[in-house]
Amino acid sequence: MSPRFAPSFTRRHVLQALGVAALPAAQPPVRAAGVVTIRLSHVVTQQTPKGLALQRFKDLVEQRSAGAVRVAIYANSSLYGDADEMQALQMGAIDMLAPSLSKFGRIGFPEFEAFGLPFLFESATQIRKVCDGALGNRLLASLGRQRMVGLGFLDNGFKHMSANRPLLTPDDYRGLRMRVQDSRVIAHQMRALGAQPVNLSFGETRRALASGVVDGTENPISNFWTQRMHEVQTDLTLTQHGYLGYAVVAHRDFWGSLPAGQRTLVQEALREALAWGNTIAQQENDDALVALRASRTTRIHQPDASQRERLRLAVGEVYDTLEKRIGGEWMRALRASLHS
Ligand code: LMR
Repeated sequence: MSPRFAPSFTRRHVLQALGVAALPAAQPPVRAAGVVTIRLSHVVTQQTPKGLALQRFKDLVEQRSAGAVRVAIYANSSLYGDADEMQALQMGAIDMLAPSLSKFGRIGFPEFEAFGLPFLFESATQIRKVCDGALGNRLLASLGRQRMVGLGFLDNGFKHMSANRPLLTPDDYRGLRMRVQDSRVIAHQMRALGAQPVNLSFGETRRALASGVVDGTENPISNFWTQRMHEVQTDLTLTQHGYLGYAVVAHRDFWGSLPAGQRTLVQEALREALAWGNTIAQQENDDALVALRASRTTRIHQPDASQRERLRLAVGEVYDTLEKRIGGEWMRALRASLHS
């Protein structure tokens, strides 16, 4: 093989060794006939808090730029899934992403995994305090370490547990294989409850539930409903044990390549779309619960206060382990922000 081809040979084989499909080489944002197209990938359907907020972002950008900037949205893992989207961003194969906050842990930002701590947030107000305050800004700025620009936070909502049985107390979790997103905090949470965590891409979850590869999972109801997980899970328990939110990020080189006027336009449209998304997220989850009840496929259980307390006590150790990994300073800043 000629040395000229050696680098791409190496890259392809490294990707294969990592189990990642070959990705196109780094490319500048797509520009044709003076039109810039921003490629944005995500893993949920359009009819979810994230899908709707990003659609609004697209509409605002395209209207305000009179079509000079387009946003091509690849939803529902149609282009990249959890396993390869971060790498696609790093390589310039995609321009923007909105992964869940917990998924930043595996690429070198373990502090983001704090958002996945069980029973951390009690209200939407506390979530806004953390995301919109100094701690949130610090977290977004830290993404520069990996040549990303952190552009903002977006809510989905509170997660609940599902399986083919009620999951009201730790006894109910014993021996279950529970799908988790790629987060050590969430995996530890499942182990602390007596379950076995199975790390799977979001896009593979429904199939894994249907085939029995895993027994259950956790997600906000908007994700549960729009992935049609209710067809393959007989029981949903309204544990409200954790939060799912997102950070919208761009690659630094892509962001820097936008002319200043367009960058401001895109940033302003995103700010508005995320603020709007955060106002509709709860309603989307409430509507999904109504639709789920009406479908009558899945029994819905409400833990009482003492059952919820037993779950909370069982997962206390997850906090200590994360604190050892990210240091007491982050955890103190987080607690101060929650109660500010
Ligand atoms: C999950 O993997 O469960 C979620 O992060 C998916 C999403 O983006 O809402």
